[in-house]
Amino acid sequence: MDTPFSTLIRTASHEQHTEAETSSFMGDLLGGRLAVDAYARYTEQLWFVYRALEEGAEALREDPVAGPFIQAELFRTAALEQDLAHLRGADWRAGVSPLPATVAYAERVAECARDWPAGYVAHHYTRYLGDLSGGQIIRDKAERTWGFTRKGDGVRFYVFEEIGNPAAFKRTYRELLDGVNADDLEKQRIVDECKRAFAFNSAVFHQLGGEFPLSA
Ligand code: HEM
Repeated sequence: MDTPFSTLIRTASHEQHTEAETSSFMGDLLGGRLAVDAYARYTEQLWFVYRALEEGAEALREDPVAGPFIQAELFRTAALEQDLAHLRGADWRAGVSPLPATVAYAERVAECARDWPAGYVAHHYTRYLGDLSGGQIIRDKAERTWGFTRKGDGVRFYVFEEIGNPAAFKRTYRELLDGVNADDLEKQRIVDECKRAFAFNSAVFHQLGGEFPLSA
């Protein structure tokens, strides 16, 4: 395959990226039209997804395909828990619930972590590279809309404190993708799973949009 895998996966998911980015929930959130409760509800959903991603990570550290991708500086669960304590209060755990789309998403991530490490890579890429990219736009908007301290409680999820240079990190990450230990057929299956990961994200946005129906 001539095209580097990092280019292939980015190009293949481009259309769905645009779809997720322009969902009405995201549009309302980034447009500053939603109350902080909607942002908190979204953060709750992320917590379920990252728990699945990161609980699955431990067992994959030595895996020949997924192992190189497991890097502690990416882990987001602790940051999400701090954000939720800030957004919902110390007893936030009593009130969180996953949307049906979130349940399906987290279950698929857990299933890949358990049974198909290459599929796990697709989910890893879709979330973490996105957080390191567009996530920064969301953070900036959230800080301004709801008055969170810059890079403080409420937006810690978006702050990768142990990653000094996100652009350099992303370059290295793309090299990891290019060298992924998979043949062409398996790479195609990873791309397909990445598209599925985007579809899960869009489904979560769609259901969040149903709970916070602002867009006309
Ligand atoms: C409003 C929401 C979003 C905005 C504004 C946004 C914006 C961006 C931008 C500007 C980049 C390019 C960064 C670069 O060139 O290095 C990017 C990359 C990326 N985004 Fe998003 N994004 C959003 C939502 C999402 C969602 C929901 C996902 C999936 C969960 C996602 C996944 C990704 C991925 C995987 C990349 C890396 C592409 C690559 O270089 O391989 N994004 N995003």
